[in-house]
Amino acid sequence: MQDDVLIVTGAASGLGAASAKLLAEEGARIVAADVDREGLERVVEEIRKNGGEAVAFPTDVAKANEVEALVEHAVDTYGTLDGIFNNAGIRDGTHFTEVTPETYHEHLAINQHGVYYGMHYAANKMRELNVEGGRIVNTASIRSYFGAKKSFRYSAAKAAVENMTKSGADALAEDGIRVTAVAPAFIDTALLKHVPEERRKRLEKKHLRGKMLSALEVAKVVRFLFSQDSVAINGSCVLADDGFLAIHG
Ligand SMILES: NC(=O)c1ccc[n+]([C@@H]2O[C@H](COP(=O)([O-])OP(=O)(O)OC[C@H]3O[C@@H](n4cnc5c(N)ncnc54)[C@H](O)[C@@H]3O)[C@@H](O)[C@H]2O)c1
Repeated sequence: MQDDVLIVTGAASGLGAASAKLLAEEGARIVAADVDREGLERVVEEIRKNGGEAVAFPTDVAKANEVEALVEHAVDTYGTLDGIFNNAGIRDGTHFTEVTPETYHEHLAINQHGVYYGMHYAANKMRELNVEGGRIVNTASIRSYFGAKKSFRYSAAKAAVENMTKSGADALAEDGIRVTAVAPAFIDTALLKHVPEERRKRLEKKHLRGKMLSALEVAKVVRFLFSQDSVAINGSCVLADDGFLAIHG
C-alpha cells in the first residue's frame, strides 16, 4: 500500500477517520473527504503529525459534481489514484409512515447515490490512467440483509450498496479493479449518538462480546480489503459484526 493514493469519504469521524489513519500508517497517501470541514482538518492534521501524508477536500457525496471534483483533486495533488473508500453515510431512525418522498430521496442521495458517484468517478479515472490493482471498498451494513420499521431508507440504501459491490466487481474485473464492501454491525461512533441509552444496551447484547464494535476494529477489516492480502476477495461484502447476523439473522 506504500504510496497508494486512496480517497476516503466520511473521513472526519468514526469509521472513515479510523480507516484514513490506518491506511496512512501503511504508507498510503490519503485524500480525505467529508462535509464536516473542521473534523476533516483535525484528522488530516493528526495523520501528518504521525508522519503520514494526507490532504482534506470538503465534499458532499450526495452531489455528483463534488465527487467528480474530489477524484480530480486526488489526481491533481498526487498524480494518480489507486482506490476509494466510499464510506460517508447518515443514520435513519424515522418510521416508514413518516418518511416522505422528499426525505426518502434525500437519504438515498447520501447513502446510496453517494456510493455510486464514488464508484463511477473513481473507476473511470483509474481506467483512464491504466492503474494497476485499483480497489474500491464500500461501507454496507448488517442492515443490507434485514429491514426494520425505522430503517426503511437506510436498509434499502445499504442493500443497494451490497449489490452494487457485486455488479461493480464484475464490470471492473477486466480493468484489474477489485470491488469489495464491509458490512459492520453496530459501531460506537457519532452516528449512534442519538440512540437512547436503553436501546444501546439492548443493541450491545446482540453482539457476541456484549458490546459494540470500535471504529478501529472495523477499520482493520477495511485495511485488509485494501491490502494485497485480500486478493482472493472480490464482489463480496465482508461481515464485521461480532456474530450479530449469525445469531439474529
Ligand atoms: N455506526 C454504526 O453502527 C454503523 C454500522 C454499520 C454501518 N455504518 C456505516 O459506516 C459508515 C460510517 O459511519 P460512522 O459510524 O463512522 O458514522 P460517523 O457519523 O462517525 O461518520 C460518518 C461521516 O460521514 C460524514 N457525512 C455525512 N453525510 C455526508 C455527505 N453528504 N458527504 C460527505 N460526508 C458526509 C459525516 O460528516 C461523518 O463525518 C456509514 O456509511 C454508516 O452507515 C455504521
